Amino acid sequence: MTIQEYLQEKAAWIETALDKVLPRATQKPHVVHEAMRYSCLGGGKRLRAILAMAACRSVGGQEKDALGYALALEMIHAYSLVHDDLPAMDDDDYRRGKLTSHKVYGEGMAVLVGDALLTQAMEQLAKLPEFYPVTLPTASRLMLAVTQAIGTKGMIGGQVLDLVHSGKQVNKDELETIHRLKTGALIAVSLTGGAMIGGAKTDELAALVRFSENFGLAFQITDDILDVVGDAEVLGKATGADAKQQKATYPGLYGLDESRSMAARCVNDCVASLKHLSGDTWALQELARYVLERDR
Ligand code: IPE
Ligand code: IPE
Ligand code: MG
Ligand code: MG
Ligand code: MG
Repeated sequence: MTIQEYLQEKAAWIETALDKVLPRATQKPHVVHEAMRYSCLGGGKRLRAILAMAACRSVGGQEKDALGYALALEMIHAYSLVHDDLPAMDDDDYRRGKLTSHKVYGEGMAVLVGDALLTQAMEQLAKLPEFYPVTLPTASRLMLAVTQAIGTKGMIGGQVLDLVHSGKQVNKDELETIHRLKTGALIAVSLTGGAMIGGAKTDELAALVRFSENFGLAFQITDDILDVVGDAEVLGKATGADAKQQKATYPGLYGLDESRSMAARCVNDCVASLKHLSGDTWALQELARYVLERDR
């Protein structure tokens, strides 16, 4: 199986499962449920979900055991994108090849849809022991890890710094911090959470922390690169948006070539930490390489 086939198969799996757990659009209040489904279904690489399942497998667990957790991650990610695209933030009109939520449902509704997806994700996490082989203590550890990863010391902290530094000069440390927080933190907890579900030992978890730190940074560096050289049609979102918003980016600070080398170095370090894992690491290895080659 190629990594492209693997990604396609797993994304279809996630899509079907998300469709089942998200509230039906026929349930009241209709508009918010319809908008949640619009924002969360029908697109996206499902990378965070796939990383969680692949990490579970890499420590000897089964991918399907991390599926419920993976769904929560995709809801959180979708919420972050809905808010990220708002006019008060990045002001983007297209996402995943469709109009952004606020363009279709209005800004007020987009704020609420983000809130609703985040809340739905928390419910999903709390319900894990009911539907998946996840013990209560593990669910509680996951809840703590996720909330820490997406709060002010993680994703939101990064989004705050991204906003504060728009239009301003940043130094190398500041830029790395923004990227590690706004994107790296959720990616990291996707991997470590999936591994916890798979029953990772302490040294395996430590190896996955190292893997995730390099992976997350490489992923946001390539996101910045694609904003410069990518094809908007393929990406499903506008290019040139970072320059327009004067965002702090790797190509902006280092240029394209150096940014590519930095992403490649991160990925090499990533792959090196996989040797400490006891299960099947094929997918994680291929996913790390995919980050460098991706065009979407
Ligand atoms: C986009 O994430 C936002 C970032 C954190 C870089 P993805 O590139 O994973 O977006 P989807 O889920 O595939 O649409
Ligand atoms: C988004 O980063 C990070 C989060 C949503 C937390 P970007 O603003 O670079 O993502 P895109 O380019 O809009 O997908
Ligand atoms: Mg942004
Ligand atoms: Mg954005
Ligand atoms: Mg971007």
